[in-house]
Amino acid sequence: MNVISKSGNLAPFVKATSQAVASAVKPLSSPAVVKSEKIPYTRPTATWNYSWKRIMPFKALSVKHGTPVTTQVRLAHTDLTVPDFSNYRRSGTVDPKSKNKASAANRKSFTYIIIGGGTIASTYAAKALVTEFVMSMSASADVLALAKIEVKLGDIPEGKNVTFKWRGKPLFIRHRSQSEIAQEEGVNVSSLRDPQHDKDRCQKPEWLVVIGVCTHLGCVPIANAGDFGGYYCPCHGSHYDASGRIRKGPAPLNLEVPPYVFESENLLVVG
Ligand code: FES
Repeated sequence: MNVISKSGNLAPFVKATSQAVASAVKPLSSPAVVKSEKIPYTRPTATWNYSWKRIMPFKALSVKHGTPVTTQVRLAHTDLTVPDFSNYRRSGTVDPKSKNKASAANRKSFTYIIIGGGTIASTYAAKALVTEFVMSMSASADVLALAKIEVKLGDIPEGKNVTFKWRGKPLFIRHRSQSEIAQEEGVNVSSLRDPQHDKDRCQKPEWLVVIGVCTHLGCVPIANAGDFGGYYCPCHGSHYDASGRIRKGPAPLNLEVPPYVFESENLLVVG
């Protein structure tokens, strides 16, 4: 098969071949000839060069390609139609010939309203965000429900101490007799390790409400025991009186009085 190539690009890579494959085709009588044409290199012309020439106002001006030749032509563009933005402009600034001062108050008030409204909305959003964040860290409803207990005082006979569970701690509620009240109110406060008058520890003289945790190392004292008839901690021998004040032993402080209120004559709410 004989190949003749006239392509200038392929010429350097193509060689003439003679009969290569036996077939029914008859070979040429003369060997194939390849014409190698050298196509001269011409610098490509930028397409925009032509389009620039078409829109140039003066034929004398032309844009030429080349490094030292400027390719920028400035036009006034005075023939362009400016879109009408009147619908988007404020009423005070529609007229381009009106003075700036004439619409100053109107424009300022608009800006102030936007800033004020934005500030209020931002402040409200920030407050809601902070509140939500802080509330997420507070105790849940079931925990808060356990934070308070109600005690029916009518179920506690005089002279008895009843232990309740409040916030995971033992809570002592003691129905004191008149003799205990008189005894505790007559104690010389200055002689106490943790000076506190009985009236400062009891809202009602007949009811003592204290947390049943020894102030020494946290044991639970025994009611109606000890040298003073109040509470006795067997761990290290602390004696409390019927007002929950430390009278003897290693404990440094009186039994803690929790926050409580009398909802009614017969109902006590602790917490
Ligand atoms: Fe009560 Fe030590 S813990 S006396």
